[in-house]
Amino acid sequence: MPTEKIGIVGSGEVGQRLAKSFSTVGYEVKIGSRSPYKLKDFTKEAGGRISAGTFDEAASFGDLVVIATNGEATENIIDLAGRENFSGKVVIDVTNPLDFSKGMPPDLLTKYVQTSLGESVQRKLQDSKVVKCFNTVPNSVMFRPKFKPSEMLICGNDANAKQEVTRLLKEFEWSGSIDLGGIENARWLEALCVLWVKTASATGAWNSMFALVK
Ligand SMILES: NC(=O)c1ccc[n+]([C@@H]2O[C@H](COP(=O)([O-])OP(=O)(O)OC[C@H]3O[C@@H](n4cnc5c(N)ncnc54)[C@H](OP(=O)(O)O)[C@@H]3O)[C@@H](O)[C@H]2O)c1
Repeated sequence: MPTEKIGIVGSGEVGQRLAKSFSTVGYEVKIGSRSPYKLKDFTKEAGGRISAGTFDEAASFGDLVVIATNGEATENIIDLAGRENFSGKVVIDVTNPLDFSKGMPPDLLTKYVQTSLGESVQRKLQDSKVVKCFNTVPNSVMFRPKFKPSEMLICGNDANAKQEVTRLLKEFEWSGSIDLGGIENARWLEALCVLWVKTASATGAWNSMFALVK
């Protein structure tokens, strides 16, 4: 069944950016928060194609679900959203397990150092097809990136799910994706986020992304 409705679990900068982006390319979107009422102005500005709800309402709404939540809180948020609401679906995991306790730049949360948040999300959602995507780039470049080539680094266990995510990336005007393999590669994609923050802090280039130059 083609994707028509997108559920976005998470209402921060990333959740809002992706909600607007999916809506711009024609999808119906529900964005989820603990406090959906705080998204009143956001949904009003977006016109009729984005609605707001609780985490479980957003997850059950989507044919495809995006998880864009605070890294440390993500596993609890999946429980709040109800694992059954992700069942059988492609799930795009945008999260990074960042530890800001010592300030900027962040480190990885020690809980996820010998594994990754992507693998933990897939373990929690055993009958979903989790694809790690978007976590290595800032939200400002997630949609219609101005950089060329623009190939998104992705990983996940299900080939069809990665194909569907790549199709969506092309709708967002990415050149395509670089598939690193199974979800265990989320370890490197999450580490790359930390490297990107350190690089952006050192150079001031916040509107930037890493790309493979051939
Ligand atoms: N910022 C970027 O450009 C960027 C780029 C790539 C990847 N990422 C990753 O994407 C994810 C989202 O980032 P973000 O900056 O948009 O937002 P964020 O501030 O990391 O997370 C916001 C979301 O997490 C929920 N949340 C936070 N603490 C919670 C708690 N204790 N219990 C339950 N829910 C909680 C919030 O709930 P409410 O809706 O109820 O407030 C909100 O939906 C993060 O993992 C981040 O590392 C960010």
